[in-house]
Amino acid sequence: MILDTKSVGVCDAIENARAHITGRNLRYYVYTFGCQQNEADSEKIRQMAENMGYLSADCSESADLVILNTCAIREHAQMKAMSLLGTFKSQKKKNPNLVVGLVGCMAAKDEIVKNIKAKFPFVSFTAEPNMLHRIPEAVLSAVTEAERTFIIGEDSGNIVEGITQKRTSAHKAMVSIMYGCNNFCTYCVVPYVRGRERSRDSSAIISECKELVRGGVKEIMLLGQNVNSYSSDIKFPELLSRIAELEGDFIIRFMTSHPKDTTSALIDVMKKYSGKVAPYFHLPLQAGSNRILSRMNRTYTRERFWEIVQELREKIPGISLSTDIIVGFPGESEEDFLETLDMLKICRFDLVYAFMYSSRVGTAAAKMDGHIADTVKSDRLSRLFEIQDPISYEKNLPYLDSYVRVLVDSAEERDGERIYTGRTDTNKLVHFTGDAVSIGEFISVKIKKICGFDLIGDAVK
Ligand code: 5AD
Ligand code: SF4
Repeated sequence: MILDTKSVGVCDAIENARAHITGRNLRYYVYTFGCQQNEADSEKIRQMAENMGYLSADCSESADLVILNTCAIREHAQMKAMSLLGTFKSQKKKNPNLVVGLVGCMAAKDEIVKNIKAKFPFVSFTAEPNMLHRIPEAVLSAVTEAERTFIIGEDSGNIVEGITQKRTSAHKAMVSIMYGCNNFCTYCVVPYVRGRERSRDSSAIISECKELVRGGVKEIMLLGQNVNSYSSDIKFPELLSRIAELEGDFIIRFMTSHPKDTTSALIDVMKKYSGKVAPYFHLPLQAGSNRILSRMNRTYTRERFWEIVQELREKIPGISLSTDIIVGFPGESEEDFLETLDMLKICRFDLVYAFMYSSRVGTAAAKMDGHIADTVKSDRLSRLFEIQDPISYEKNLPYLDSYVRVLVDSAEERDGERIYTGRTDTNKLVHFTGDAVSIGEFISVKIKKICGFDLIGDAVK
């Protein structure tokens, strides 16, 4: 079900909070860990804070409201967030009015919330990822009654529409189209912390995109844990076509896709709207051995994956591909790992994001036998990059001396020279020089050098 902010009392909570907060010039600071979904959620949190009357702070030290938007996907991300959280104990001593909140995926885990309740008394609230609209209420209780609020286990499976995002970029916009995941890959905590899949109404998404393009946005990133299983009145390929048909000079990206939902219909839409839909696909492989893929519950084989890669390359010439790999999944033998390396050599991805398997409480893989020692995992990770790094470099070589369209993201002075940074439609990072370059605009760049994973060039008029 789709609810609006009014029906869940968000507006009232914001109004009440504003009545207490405005005029005192209080400031907020938001930390974001993890994926782009969290980046998008943080933009909503910032907007809610501003609606409550908080102003943005340059750093957490000068803030009266600090919110950590967290990730639970690997142990490392959790440890980083917990140690950061600990540092606010002394700030709270100096400023007893400081309100600290921990939200996002970690706040959906019972053991973490219990620990915070018992051992982090300076934390005023927690809110699981699908309950972020209740942050104003929690802040209000903290500010007016010094009460602690823990919002967990309350996800009703609804989507709350109407919370606007305080967008960090004027030319790139993230648009969430679906939330949650039903796939239950055996290693992954996401279905437990973000709940079941739910898709936004296509009409709400399309009007949001229309507004963004009208406002000058040049890149729309459609987001979802499992973006291509989007399903409301229409399915993902149809949604993509409708957005691509909007008038304007802009590019559409989407992530993250599951191979099982990467259909010919989707690839055909990418081909049909090749000027609008970026020739780039992030297609997580996770492992190259069919035995491990099955233990991971990925529901495809290496053969099927390779078919998708071939279809993408045949229909969209020049497409760039990236993937995710997990090394050291329980039971992964040396032979299984060699099959992963083999798949990297066959598929020749432009970019690979590889991770050591991290056991997550409550997932099926955590209970499997055959857990692998960290030393073996880290050895496999380095061997993986020994194979992949030269491939990534070689995949960039055809760009040399070519002209590419780049969306300009930023500029900085280096050794007295102004260096611009942007991305090609194929998502390659480009550093370049040039006159009359404007941030947020498309520009043509001639590539003169390949440096590691990046392209170096000069803007051309
Ligand atoms: N351990 C290591 N990597 C993981 N990922 C998801 N869960 C885990 C885990 N438990 C990786 C997958 C996914 C990416 C976002 O994070 O490769 O695609
Ligand atoms: Fe996790 Fe698998 Fe869902 Fe991706 S598809 S969020 S890896 S369970």
